[in-house]
Amino acid sequence: MDLLVLEKALLGLFAAVTLAIVFSTLRGKRFKLPPGPLPVPIFGNWLQVGDDLNQRNLAALAKKFGDIFLLRMGQRNLVVVSSPDLAREVLHTQGVEFGSRTRNVVFDIFTGKGQDMVFTVYGEHWRKMRRIMTVPFFTNKVVQQYRYGWEDEAARVVEDVRANPKSATEGIVIRRRLQLMMYNNMYRIMFDRRFESEEDPLFLKLRALNGERSRLAQSFEYNYGDFIPILRPFLRGYLKICKEVKDMRISIFKSYFVEERKKLGNTKPTDTTGLKCAIDHILDAEKKGEINEDNVLYIVENINVAAIETTLWSIEWGLAELVNHQDVQRKVRAELDSVLGPGVQITEPDIPRLPYLQAVVKETLRLRMAIPLLVPHMNLHDAKLGGFDIPAESKILVNAWWLANNPAHWKNPDQFRPERFLEEEAKVEANGNDFRYIPFGVGRRSCPGIILALPILGITLGRLVQNFELLPPPGMERIDTTEKGGQFSLHILKHSTVVAKPRSF
Ligand code: HEM
Repeated sequence: MDLLVLEKALLGLFAAVTLAIVFSTLRGKRFKLPPGPLPVPIFGNWLQVGDDLNQRNLAALAKKFGDIFLLRMGQRNLVVVSSPDLAREVLHTQGVEFGSRTRNVVFDIFTGKGQDMVFTVYGEHWRKMRRIMTVPFFTNKVVQQYRYGWEDEAARVVEDVRANPKSATEGIVIRRRLQLMMYNNMYRIMFDRRFESEEDPLFLKLRALNGERSRLAQSFEYNYGDFIPILRPFLRGYLKICKEVKDMRISIFKSYFVEERKKLGNTKPTDTTGLKCAIDHILDAEKKGEINEDNVLYIVENINVAAIETTLWSIEWGLAELVNHQDVQRKVRAELDSVLGPGVQITEPDIPRLPYLQAVVKETLRLRMAIPLLVPHMNLHDAKLGGFDIPAESKILVNAWWLANNPAHWKNPDQFRPERFLEEEAKVEANGNDFRYIPFGVGRRSCPGIILALPILGITLGRLVQNFELLPPPGMERIDTTEKGGQFSLHILKHSTVVAKPRSF
């Protein structure tokens, strides 16, 4: 059986070489393509540039080939944009043309071929999903309804860290407890549910499956089948695992959460405070026939991947930088103590009065951008960009990290210096008012979750600094901030152990 597959693959490979040569000769004449390294048939530039196209490697290529360049990854075109002007063009001026998402075999499995919102192409379905998700998730009313929940979850983190005798001596991996907090922050919004402890079996199951989903989707292992479609049969085993993980997740979302809420809705349509939670609104849309049951489940899937880990990575980076920059940590604490009073716990409405804390959040998102290349964009049709032709269905990466870390545009960008957002960059906001700084993207496909992520970051980091002196573990000067990237995320390689010495008031 496998020999047959191999034979087919080799035949296909031969046909593809011939086609690729003919096609590229023809295309080269017709199109004025962006510059880039010279591709070879079949593999394109893949063997030259490798799999790990992280933000730093792509910035190095931009220095060589310019603010727009093209990589041929097997049969896929990858266009990388590295200047604020071109980012504006992709995300704003030509936001419709470049407003789709690339698909691949793995994402097709996890999103039911684009039945979700985050990874679907730009069009009617996306517009409907984004509209339906806005009221239950992305308004100031939601922030005001759930901020008490976030404050409560942060208070419980403080309580648990305080109660652990190791915190003040050898240190603990606070991230683990923060992960439970982020699940609770989002599951309270979605289902009015929370998990009691890190040992809760349902939490453990969800965490494991979501982790596996992220690992499988982010891995470089399946690239060959994505770049060279005739090699796809060899991905069968990989795709089978993806499908199993996807089925298990969807079935948990359905039986433990959505169905439960439906049952509750039949008897009591509101939560304990008399308000609807997000899934009630989404189920209303299903009842009206606007979306189907699968769409409901993929909305839950999207929130699990888009909201929880991204915010958690950013909190983790912020914490690491605060530990490694004791002067910054002291300043945050001094601001909290003087504006709120020592021991008065920070709440969401306090954030506008805490400019230094806000600057720390912004600086974390600048230097340690959780999604440094944004979620890849795509043009459904042939398009023009920066004077070049962009063939239909190219994957467009905006190197947002480089825009925010390019020394041509920023003063000492490799330094963690929140003061920049109070001094020379005082007008720059995280919402994309300046194309050099777009940690949440900008325009049609920008992150709608910014409205939740910023206050959660402020409350969480604020409470930690207010209540603890955060230090590297004994014998270490600083914690290790080596980066690890996947297909599109940037996280810390090793979850750090942090000493948290309780403050007394
Ligand atoms: C610090 C935390 C977060 C960061 C850094 C972040 C960043 C991003 C980025 C860069 C994009 C892609 C923008 C583009 O392609 O142009 C995105 C998309 C998205 N984010 Fe976030 N995000 C965060 C938190 C959240 C949260 C809390 C939620 C939901 C509650 C969320 C929901 C989404 C959704 C639904 C999309 C897809 C939008 C679309 O395709 O139309 N994100 N996010």
